[in-house]
Parts: sequence; structure tokens; C-alpha cells
Amino acid sequence: MDLENALKTAADIIKKSNYLIALTGAGISVESGIPDFRSAGGLWEKYDPAVYAHIDSFRRNPEMIWEMLFDMIDLTKNARPNPAHIALAELEKKGILKAVITQNIDNLHQEAGSLNVIEFHGNAHRLECLECHYEEPVESPDFGRKPPRCPQCGKIMKPQVVFFGEMIPPDALLESQMLANSADAILVVGTSAVVYPASSIPYIAKQNRAKVIEMNVERTAITGSITDVFIQGKVGHTLPRLLELVCS
Ligand code: APR
Repeated sequence: MDLENALKTAADIIKKSNYLIALTGAGISVESGIPDFRSAGGLWEKYDPAVYAHIDSFRRNPEMIWEMLFDMIDLTKNARPNPAHIALAELEKKGILKAVITQNIDNLHQEAGSLNVIEFHGNAHRLECLECHYEEPVESPDFGRKPPRCPQCGKIMKPQVVFFGEMIPPDALLESQMLANSADAILVVGTSAVVYPASSIPYIAKQNRAKVIEMNVERTAITGSITDVFIQGKVGHTLPRLLELVCS
């Protein structure tokens, strides 16, 4: 199926659906200037995720992990929502999209105007103390490249994002599963769909007979299996076009 036909098929599905949800991943923010994790040149080429993204490493050597976090902050601090984030916010405003479940921690869906956003892996704009559980929001997570310390107990704080070895926030997990159970259509946008349990969300939806519309620059683990319509291309272009067709 060529791109325009795939978009039209997806738009028809969405027009007929009563409960559309979206699962997004790092790919939706690439056109905002934030590299994804697994494509060539991604952050995990420089930092081994088994080491740098694991909570045990943070507990052992938070200063070392903050070096990687500061690099991540440098990449994300000037990022703004792109047309793909804005198209999803627009679909929600029109009452068509019920919720965005995102694996991203960059806050760009909220900045684009999405209201019902479930943050599966947390948000880098909040800090938490693993020692005394103090939490605080942060305007700009920069800290002059010095790891921030807890104002209560003095330990180095951690961004409230989910590291490997940590639990998904229980509310986010439960709500995402409930949404996937209610959905009759799901947009799977810019994710390699390999990191569990976020990767289970499209499967839960599919089990409940939801149509799976996948939008990615390349095929993924789900493309040949549960995807009903595959829209290949950069989502900064394809999502606004899909919105146009849904609203026509
Ligand atoms: N448009 C559409 N898709 C894109 C674009 C784009 N402009 N750019 C990249 N992609 C696709 C890539 O082809 C890839 O399939 O986005 C996907 C990004 O995949 P990953 O880098 O694996 O990111 P993600 O799926 O979000 O990773 C999940 O892994 O380590 C973690 O916690 C981290 O939340 C993250 C999780």
C-alpha cells in the first residue's frame, strides 16, 4: 500500500472508532531535535544502557550517571513540540483521541497541549530523593552540571524517570492497561516497541480487537504481526496529514 492509501485507510479506521488511544516513543521527538535510543547515532551508542540506565548504577555512583544525564539534558533543553505532537493534541481537542501513553520523559506532549498524557517512564522535569523520598518539580533541569542535592537530607537526587530495574509507576501502568482494554483503535507512533511492559500495550489493545495503526520510519517488531496499517515516514509529516484526512 502506498503512503497516501495507508493514510486514507487509517483515517477511515479513526473516523469509525469510538475510543482511539496513542502509544508514543522516542521517534516522535526526533524532529524536535532529540535523538532516539536505538537508531544509529542514538544516546545508547555512547552510553551502554545496561550500565548507565540501570538503577543499581545510580545507587552505586550517582555522579557518573549524572554525567550521562547532563548530556541528555543538553540534547533536550531547547527542544520544542513538533507538528506530530501538535497533531496528537489537536486530535484530543476534537474529542477523537482519548489519551496519549508516552514512553518519553521530555514533556513535549504536554507543551503541545495534550491534556490526558500517561507518562509510562516518568518525567525529567521532576526530581526525587531515593533516600528520604523528597520530591520537587524542576523548571529547567540543568543545575550547572552539578548533580542536584536533596534539600532535606543532602543526598544526590534522581530525575523521576524509570531506570531499568525500577517499577513502572503503578498508576501509569494500571491506567495504560485500562485504556488498552477500552480502545478500539491505537496509534503506535515512533517506538521500536521492544521495551516491556510498554511494548505490551498494543498487544492488549489488539486482543480486544482494536485496530493497530503504526507510524514509523522503519518496520518494527510489531509491523509484520499485529499492525493493521503501517504508515511509513517521518511523523512530523505523516501525523498532520492523518489529522487533515480525519477532519475532512
Ligand atoms: N518518525 C517516525 N519514527 C521515527 C522517527 C521519525 N521522525 N525517527 C525515529 N523513528 C523511529 C525509529 O525507527 C524507532 O523505531 O522511532 C523508534 C524509536 O525507537 P527507540 O529508540 O527504541 O525508542 P523507544 O521505542 O521510545 O524506546 C523505549 O527504551 O531505553 C528506553 O526508556 C527508554 O522510553 C525508552 C524505551
